[in-house]
Amino acid sequence: MTRHLITSAIPYINGIKHLGNLVGSQLPADLYARYQRGRGREVLFLCATDEHGTPAELAAAKAGKPVAEYCADMHEVQARIAEDFRLSFDHFGRSSSARNHALTQHFAGKLADAGLIREVSERQVYSNADGRFLPDRYIEGTCPNCGYDKARGDQCENCTKQLDPTDLIEPRSAVSGSTDLEVRETKHLYLCQSALRDDLDAWIDSKGDWPILTTSIAKKWLHDGDGLQDRGITRDLDWGVPVKKGAEDWPGMEGKVFYVWFDAPNEYIAASQEWVDAGKGSDWERWWRTDKGADDVTYTQFMGKDNVPFHTLSFPATILGSGEPWKLVDYIKSFNYLNYEGGQFSTSQGRGIFMDQALAILPADYWRWWLLSHAPESSDSEFVWENFQASVNKDLADVLGNFVSRITKFCRSKFGEAVPEGGSFGPQEEALIAELTTRIRAYEGHMEAMEVRKSAAELRAIWVAGNEYLQSAAPWSTFKEDPEQAAAQVRLGLNLIRLYAVLSAPFIPDASAKMLAAMGTDDQVWPDDVAAALSALPAGHGFTVPDVLFAKIADDDRETWQAQFAGQRQ
Ligand code: 2FM
Ligand code: ZN
Repeated sequence: MTRHLITSAIPYINGIKHLGNLVGSQLPADLYARYQRGRGREVLFLCATDEHGTPAELAAAKAGKPVAEYCADMHEVQARIAEDFRLSFDHFGRSSSARNHALTQHFAGKLADAGLIREVSERQVYSNADGRFLPDRYIEGTCPNCGYDKARGDQCENCTKQLDPTDLIEPRSAVSGSTDLEVRETKHLYLCQSALRDDLDAWIDSKGDWPILTTSIAKKWLHDGDGLQDRGITRDLDWGVPVKKGAEDWPGMEGKVFYVWFDAPNEYIAASQEWVDAGKGSDWERWWRTDKGADDVTYTQFMGKDNVPFHTLSFPATILGSGEPWKLVDYIKSFNYLNYEGGQFSTSQGRGIFMDQALAILPADYWRWWLLSHAPESSDSEFVWENFQASVNKDLADVLGNFVSRITKFCRSKFGEAVPEGGSFGPQEEALIAELTTRIRAYEGHMEAMEVRKSAAELRAIWVAGNEYLQSAAPWSTFKEDPEQAAAQVRLGLNLIRLYAVLSAPFIPDASAKMLAAMGTDDQVWPDDVAAALSALPAGHGFTVPDVLFAKIADDDRETWQAQFAGQRQ
């Protein structure tokens, strides 16, 4: 059976992520991992913190901590919040791990052996005011491609073009704002991506089923202008993976580290090694080495669109160029951006809702449901408080929550806290089973295809079908004429709660666990056969009435939060 290797883009260490970051990678990856596990498939789901590069150095300096200490602390913070959001990583690694250092140096050695790394004497921006060479990200200016005036020296976040600092118009130091910059001579390593262009092109062509968003970005980088460019993979920083050729020193590269985007994707592999080191697994190679069984693995990556060039081109260039039998990604699911109330979420400007703030006001499931059901798949989407309130109140409270509460309370009052006996299913129940069967098969199809919004819509329709059944079967009326028939209807309703728990777990794992607990079962078998699934809880099986699953969001609360999150995070 296919095994699923699933990775989420690894979040930068510098601070707590906002909901836009979450919905663009970690959350949909978690949805998919939970779904695949639910189907009984073997899953390895990995994520990590991306700890190198200038953002880490800058954030540590701002926090007044040594960078290693800052990263260790922030890793713990991010790990705890991920847990609170119920992100079910098998391992949450660190790109600064000894494993990733060794692996990154190993890849550099292999690439050098293959003649794919060249040394380049380079003229680099030196800031007189700051007394240092400025790494690409520390230089800001106007994008030559789209004219955005806050483009960074490595990439324009507005048009996603990868840049070199010298491409910028009117460059300035991001450290001090100084424009007293000069260009000095220094030596760097370049990865000869251009030599791999045809291989990469053919590989991407073989991925006919990838989302357009993914392939169009990759193709742009392969073919626009002069085509795929070689990339500098070293930087003048203290913090990072020291430049080495395997275990050996690299003459002339003393004091330099690898560029963060050269080491970060390697952490996907290193995280699986850390997973073994932590005693959580016993064999990482069967997930990653095609000579060690990884041919059976389906590898899926989740990321925001700005990450696509690095995952379709740079990382595969490392893997292919190494000449070693590493597993390449099979499917890249990429996302557009989530905006916040008419503007962008922004970490640097503290704009929007951050993961810790979200959890301080409402439990994870509320956010998970809204974010996933509004995932920015085919275009950017927008968080608007009124819409969030309406979705929660309608989908979660009125449809699902109300169903669970009505059926359990009615049963308790008329039959007691056990699945009632008697009666049998008639045409109405058969019709419901037929509708659910069709819908559940559609839901599976959307989940397999990672169509997140469509999956959410189908799940909602599955909840609605149960509600409509309950409304028209009306066991509270039936009971007066025909208690046996009412018993059969209620039995079906209680079984539906278990079924909903199983189907909904990837979206709302906490509510799902509560529903199962209330139904007194941990039977989470996937409903391949819907009729059978609807008699899983037999007559006489005990249950309890759960507490309210989802509280409605009152207008007052919504207004308070709207005001609270209108400004910048302090
Ligand atoms: O964009 C980001 O948040 C990056 N930290 C993602 C890195 S993904 C990878 F390459 F590991
Ligand atoms: Zn631009």
